[in-house]
Amino acid sequence: MKTLFSGIQPSGIPTLGNYIGALKQFADIQDDYNCFFCIVDQHAITVPQDRLKLREQTRKLAAIYLASGLNPDKVTLFIQSEVPAHVQAGWMLTTISSVGELERMTQFKDKAQKQNDGIPAGLLTYPPLMAADIVLYNTDIVPVGDDQKQHIELTRNLVDRFNSRYNDVLVKPDVHMPKVGGRVMSLQDPTKKMSKSDDNQKNFISLLDEPRLAAKKIKSAVTDSDGIIKYDKENKPGISNLLTIYSSLTDTPIEALEAQYEGQGYGAFKGDLAEVVEKFLIDFQEKFNTFYESDRLDAILDEGRDKAQRASFKTLKKMEKAMGLGRKTK
Ligand code: AQP
Repeated sequence: MKTLFSGIQPSGIPTLGNYIGALKQFADIQDDYNCFFCIVDQHAITVPQDRLKLREQTRKLAAIYLASGLNPDKVTLFIQSEVPAHVQAGWMLTTISSVGELERMTQFKDKAQKQNDGIPAGLLTYPPLMAADIVLYNTDIVPVGDDQKQHIELTRNLVDRFNSRYNDVLVKPDVHMPKVGGRVMSLQDPTKKMSKSDDNQKNFISLLDEPRLAAKKIKSAVTDSDGIIKYDKENKPGISNLLTIYSSLTDTPIEALEAQYEGQGYGAFKGDLAEVVEKFLIDFQEKFNTFYESDRLDAILDEGRDKAQRASFKTLKKMEKAMGLGRKTK
């Protein structure tokens, strides 16, 4: 069976974008792979975090993974900082990364721009840590949204570099993108990505938003003035984004929605989508609350940590041996 790895940062409460671009796919494919799902809290601290909030968001993210339909008896769900091999392998891959290639990462450029008190070095070296997260589990596939494609490309390059410089130790992963919803956009500015750490709450729908409030956010989402419900990302980014959300949450092809709403105004379309989102969140949050309030959540994370530690240690030792770190073991 092939191995799948994916991570989400507890840098806020995941949005509908994280759900559509990542979480929803996980539940759909968990039976086909040996799955590792990681709460990447060490990535989250590449920008300043409040410590108590980070803890809370980490636990909430675990419950969100489970509410999205992951079966804890099948998948390994764990917290990155509880598995030390990640930073150890991350450092090794940092040493074979060049500053130039890290500076070219779009996410680095975007996030660096927003820092007022100097750019944390971790923002630059985040991609080799992400590469380590992936390679430690001999990962074959990484399901991600559009924004992470560049980081997976870099991971593939680092794997080639490591294998050719040292020894053929690392498995080269493939990326897996959703057919619809690889990039859900901000509701008020549909030319930029929906992000959980956005300062403007109206730009995103958090999976834990009050459902009524989320419905309101849909109704007030920015569209255009021509009143035609048609997918056209370039010229009609707002409506295209809402069509993507609608299509993904109801598993209806975009063309079918275009046909269904032909000749109808934006009011009816947005009203229906607001209802879809509201219902989705009510159902999602009910499942979330059950996991969040249960002691089982910690047991699942403990078990995940132990499994991830065992699996990652093997690759870490191979990498250290290949690089000549530590003493020779028999
Ligand atoms: N808007 C999006 N549309 C589709 N997929 C998305 N993903 C993120 N935003 C969208 C996918 O969600 C997974 C987890 O992302 P992450 O938390 O590791 O970091 P991110 O990509 O930086 O997500 P955010 O929400 O934008 O976080 P912040 O605001 O902290 O930077 C990934 O698979 C990602 O592709």
